[in-house]
Amino acid sequence: MDRRFPDGFLWGTSSAAHQVEGDNRNCEWWEFEQQPGRIENGDTSEIACDHYHQYGEDFTLLRELSQNAHRLSIEWSRIEPSEGEFDSRQIRHYRDVLGELREQGIEPMVTLHHFTNPLWFIRKGGWGASGSARAFLPYVHRVVDELGDLVSLWCTINEPNIYAANGWITGEFPPGRRGDLAAFYRVLANMRRAHELAYLAIKRRWPDSPVGLSHHKFLFLPASTRRGDRLAARTAQMAVDRWPVAPGRLGKVVEATSDFIGIAHYHGQCCAFDPGRPREQFIRRSNVPGAFVTDMGWSADPTWMRAILNELKGLGKPVYITENGLATTDDSRRERYLTDLLANVRLAIQDGVDVRGYFHWTNMDNFEWARGYQVQFGLIAVDRRTLERTIKPSGRLYSRIARANGLLKSLDSGA
Ligand code: NOJ
Repeated sequence: MDRRFPDGFLWGTSSAAHQVEGDNRNCEWWEFEQQPGRIENGDTSEIACDHYHQYGEDFTLLRELSQNAHRLSIEWSRIEPSEGEFDSRQIRHYRDVLGELREQGIEPMVTLHHFTNPLWFIRKGGWGASGSARAFLPYVHRVVDELGDLVSLWCTINEPNIYAANGWITGEFPPGRRGDLAAFYRVLANMRRAHELAYLAIKRRWPDSPVGLSHHKFLFLPASTRRGDRLAARTAQMAVDRWPVAPGRLGKVVEATSDFIGIAHYHGQCCAFDPGRPREQFIRRSNVPGAFVTDMGWSADPTWMRAILNELKGLGKPVYITENGLATTDDSRRERYLTDLLANVRLAIQDGVDVRGYFHWTNMDNFEWARGYQVQFGLIAVDRRTLERTIKPSGRLYSRIARANGLLKSLDSGA
């Protein structure tokens, strides 16, 4: 089998401002973290990885890992700390950050919104409020104007379905609401609109820059061949996948206003019909029997990625895997997963899917939202006392794959 990836394939890692920068106080996550019981172990993002100051060294490590791309987010609450007021010092900071990446030969994919919001926006009702998409726009314009020359690829919004589900269905994210399906769909509709407006704003200024968003792709499998279970899996899948389609507009709106499809995939679940669960759409979810269960409690299997990518073939757009990774302290498990996962990406490319890049979540262990520092996704370990970075064997492996632009012979995968 040809183990090489297409020329120009992007090998990167993915991160988010609030999870790595530290001292990001002007957003709702900071407030949320101060409430007892919200974050495992009482962890907070206080110092996180101090990436705000150590970005230069961190990007040197990425170069050491032979990376040619990196996905990172710009923190809205730093750029626009009060409504309509922009902080030129912070804009300069991000110019330095992006400039440094470029200097190291690493292409930036920039996410405009990755879960966090300025407090003034939250006080106005956040993403549940009707004017939210418009309120997001001045920040977008500012970033597009002042940083756009340094950006290779744009990702407007990170995982709207996870943001809405965790904030309004499971309550794991701020505002910590549970079971509010109406708000879930309202938030998704507003984020969809915000994506469309941001897409247009970017394209007007930088027509040649590819723009997309990162869609979190679960895989839902029926628990049995029974009709009810098959229907349960389809319903669960639609709830998280079909939000891009506006009611009455059968064209796929987000796909129409996207130059590429960004896919974040981590896990799969089994779905069974359960009449006793009206608040959960009559669906009982469980991990997939036989699959590895990560430290997040998610079942994961590297072969699922091929099926997911093949589903996108019909859309006829380039695909970037904007996130994928494994929460585990067993780094050899991460090495195996990474190798098998990439073998499946390779197979999907052979199947005809136009995959252009892979961004592993994540470069360094960081603040994993409600799980704090208790789970580790990184290719680089961060000592929580000294913040010293140490490349893990999985990081070295990823580096060899990136340098070879393909899977190595010595890494025969089971795929
Ligand atoms: C997706 C999110 O974008 C990211 O912020 C998170 O840390 C990873 N998944 C792992 O849960």
